[in-house]
Amino acid sequence: MLLKSEGDVSVAGDVESALREISLATPDLILLDLVMPGRSGLDLLAELGERSVRSPVIVLTATNTVNAAVEAMKRGAADFVTKPFELDALRIKVRDRLEKRELLEEVERLRDEVEDRQHFAGMVGRSDAMRSIFRTVERIAKVQATILVTGESGTGKELVARAIHDHSPRAEGPFVAVNCGAIPRDLIESELFGHERGAFTGATGRRTGRFEAANGGTLFLDEIGELDGAVQVKLLRALQERTFERVGSSESISVDVRIVTATNRDLVQEIANGNFREDLYYRVAVVPIALPPLRERREDVRLLAQTFVSRMGPDKKLTPAAIGSLEGYTWPGNVRELENAIEYGLALCEGDTIDRSDLPISIGRSGQAEALREQWRQGERSFEETVTRFETDILRESLESHHWNQTQTASALGLTRRVLKLKMDKLDIEAPDPSSAEPGSE
Ligand SMILES: Nc1ncnc2c1ncn2[C@@H]1O[C@H](COP(=O)(O)OP(=O)(O)OP(=O)(O)O)[C@@H](O)[C@H]1O
Ligand SMILES: [Mg+2]
Repeated sequence: MLLKSEGDVSVAGDVESALREISLATPDLILLDLVMPGRSGLDLLAELGERSVRSPVIVLTATNTVNAAVEAMKRGAADFVTKPFELDALRIKVRDRLEKRELLEEVERLRDEVEDRQHFAGMVGRSDAMRSIFRTVERIAKVQATILVTGESGTGKELVARAIHDHSPRAEGPFVAVNCGAIPRDLIESELFGHERGAFTGATGRRTGRFEAANGGTLFLDEIGELDGAVQVKLLRALQERTFERVGSSESISVDVRIVTATNRDLVQEIANGNFREDLYYRVAVVPIALPPLRERREDVRLLAQTFVSRMGPDKKLTPAAIGSLEGYTWPGNVRELENAIEYGLALCEGDTIDRSDLPISIGRSGQAEALREQWRQGERSFEETVTRFETDILRESLESHHWNQTQTASALGLTRRVLKLKMDKLDIEAPDPSSAEPGSE
């Protein structure tokens, strides 16, 4: 009666019925009297231990059996209350325990998330590299440091920049992205810093720049490696002093922006080549984040592919062969190319599965070995069949790259021509156009 206001309460009169209740629904808390008809509360504690029931137990005990309470604590009880007890005192203990339990659950949930997190702010990945990037992003988002995100095209640099903004104290402020490579060089300065009316031909009105637009938020300078020397100097000053002037004005403006930059160029190399200022580099690369190319984190391919499928075609599924192909491909266009390949596959596939043949040709082919291996893993192909298919694949590929010249192919594979011919017969490999195949070429 006392605890009805705290949640659902079930009552059991002995150990057996208590165990029955517990097996139906694990309670958040157990209040346990030690003296019951039949088996004792200590027996129940032992049973709970055996069944790995982890509900906290508060033992109720008469003052003269404090020793039993101590024994109960030794056996895993969380706390005890001596009878007769104050109703409020019991209520407080119960609330206390429930709160603590919630906290512990929260801690456990957070720990799970951190240790096994496969997504963060719209990014997915399970490779060590990506998981460590998730951790870095989460931590540095909270501080003001200027960040340089590097990585090949399509690796997710812009996604990282947005994640940093979204997890920063500035999340409510603006996120302003400037693609430095896409703006003509004579306009970039006014784009960034704004201009006064008449500052240059065509400047018909005053314009506020992106620095001002990003006030209170984040300014994302994409393709920063494309900036020319003069603008690099202006940017350096803006970053160092946090003030700048609009083009055609001498009035200093100061803004509160957090800068995130990105490039797919090797800026260190660009410095060596004299194309990028070293002092600016050290300004922007306070915290560098390097996104590895997708081919160096193949563990992410399947997860990414499945994520894209569930976003774009939620009732479709990738066949194991398709997954094998995707995992075997080298992804020069990185995650963007993978995203496009899934879109392509979804457009082409019939029924509710995307197979290897639905993927762009270069992907379907280059992943053949992986595809086979995956089918073998899934028990879709026997060992014999897998090896035969693999052999066929390699022979075919090699023959193709030697324009079906058997002598050259054999020598490339370290076989005699006779053995190659035998294998071709056995595996049923024929030149597509018989006239192109040998024999005159010998
Ligand atoms: N880890 C990831 N999880 C989910 N989607 C991703 C991930 N990485 C990239 N993407 C997606 O791939 C595409 C390319 O990402 P993004 O535009 O951030 O790449 P980028 O490095 O800025 O490329 P570029 O250098 O060509 O500008 C986007 O659609 C993005 O959402
Ligand atoms: Mg980009």
